[in-house]
Amino acid sequence: AEEQYKKFEELDKLASQGGGVERVEKQHANGHMTARERIDMLLDKGTFNEIDKFVVHHCSDFGMDKKHIPGDGIVCGYGKIDGRLVYVYAYDFTVFGGTLSTTGAKKIVKVQELALKNGAPVIALNDSGGARIQEGVGSISGYASIFYQNTIASGVIPQISAILGPCAGGACYSPALTDFIFMVKEKSHMFITGPDVVKAVTHEEVDKEELGGAYTHSSKSGVTHFLCDTEEETLMSIRELLSFLPSNNMEDAPMVPCTDDVRRADESLMSVIPDDPNMPYDIKNIIEPVVDNQYFFEVMPHFAKNIVVGFARLGGRSVGIVANQPAYLAGVLDIDASDKASRFIRFCDCFNIPIVTFEDVPGFLPGCAQEHNGIIRHGAKIVYAYAEATVPKITVITRKAYGGAYIVMNSKPIGADVNFSYPTAEIAVMGADGAVNILYRKATPEEKAQAIEDYKEKFSNPYRAAEQGYIDEIILPKDTRFKLIQALEMTQNKSQSNPPKKHGNMPL
Ligand code: COA
Repeated sequence: AEEQYKKFEELDKLASQGGGVERVEKQHANGHMTARERIDMLLDKGTFNEIDKFVVHHCSDFGMDKKHIPGDGIVCGYGKIDGRLVYVYAYDFTVFGGTLSTTGAKKIVKVQELALKNGAPVIALNDSGGARIQEGVGSISGYASIFYQNTIASGVIPQISAILGPCAGGACYSPALTDFIFMVKEKSHMFITGPDVVKAVTHEEVDKEELGGAYTHSSKSGVTHFLCDTEEETLMSIRELLSFLPSNNMEDAPMVPCTDDVRRADESLMSVIPDDPNMPYDIKNIIEPVVDNQYFFEVMPHFAKNIVVGFARLGGRSVGIVANQPAYLAGVLDIDASDKASRFIRFCDCFNIPIVTFEDVPGFLPGCAQEHNGIIRHGAKIVYAYAEATVPKITVITRKAYGGAYIVMNSKPIGADVNFSYPTAEIAVMGADGAVNILYRKATPEEKAQAIEDYKEKFSNPYRAAEQGYIDEIILPKDTRFKLIQALEMTQNKSQSNPPKKHGNMPL
């Protein structure tokens, strides 16, 4: 038996080398880690169990019958992050450029199925030349089977993708189907067609960073949720993201022992909102002092900055935060902000994470560009997402809550459990100047000035809404933390379900 053990150890060592010393050196020289180095860094030390390490492809065209590398360009298996089970697969660029073969796809699907059956997140580390050209339809069909699993697992287990090298063509649609995408500056690229094809078809001259680099996808397209400086930062951020999430849709996110006083009042909150309602302020100056240890893990910080989304904890419980950002475009809702918020709200609802909304919204962004690109159908997504969400939903109105934008931002009739408002809130159809211009079109400037004063007196406050029960409680800003924690406790056993259906028809 000793000989057999030795033989196995040799074969195993060979398989662990991926594409061999030369290709590993090239990978390092290009500033990239190898697939196995990435997995080792991502997972808790020594917890990785590799599956299908000896799998090879079955292709015999274009001389492939003479080229077999164990593992065939995918390193996959399971391990732990913070002691919790996760599944992982990493494309190994040192093996045939990390390209996907028919057997490689089967390996990935095996891991996806295991993750779904056993209720644990899947993390994909992408770095690949795409479909393996020598294999033709088998390879591209392999992607289809991966997409299928991505879709079936959506909303059941968290799925996370890191793009750590190239990701082109159809290959992009697997990450796009997952919940969160991470990219690394200058080291990762995603596009449906590369710069050469773009030039040939549209005559546009663009380099790959501008076309599909991390910054482009984080700030312009909204494809990517996290922009990282290095691969290491990417892998550490994935670990952190998972700390806010449950392993599957049947569980709650892990409670973290809360070291921050739940009753902590914060005087700084009393002076965040400017006296002049037209002055901007940074909503993060409200979010941060309120949450545990002032720590807010922002998602998509560079895209649609007029809305802020991300995770935090309140009393040790994971919450999703959605907040209008008065410091950017006055916090208006536009197409991108609508898409960003609705997808985040739906993610939280899939995974039993309560949603806390901070509202200061002057309305939807007017204009032909917005109307012609479908602000009606995009804005409808926020309504849909809030209305169908059955997790605890709590809103704090800090200042403006105008018109249609007020009601879509988790108002009581849209299904919110609790609506708080600061004394500075203005809950009305629109601001005073706009309203008076419509109501008193022909009035003299003096009459208008008087009407504006009257309107402000009547509507630029939360009392009308509170009188009618649309606001449950008016609170002082400094008490926000304890109020929210109590509201979360009050709603923690919330049990609500929507009527049974195949699935709704969300406006897209
Ligand atoms: N099918 C088969 N082999 C591929 C491949 C593919 N789609 N893409 C890359 N490879 C191979 C290369 O032939 C090379 O093999 P070798 O080391 O034996 O010579 C190896 O993978 C590494 O690729 P290389 O081109 O040397 O690396 P690079 O860092 O210079 O460029 C890419 C990487 C991904 C930008 C480039 O390989 C590329 O454009 N590939 C094609 C991408 C594509 O269009 N895929 C189809 C989309 S679905």
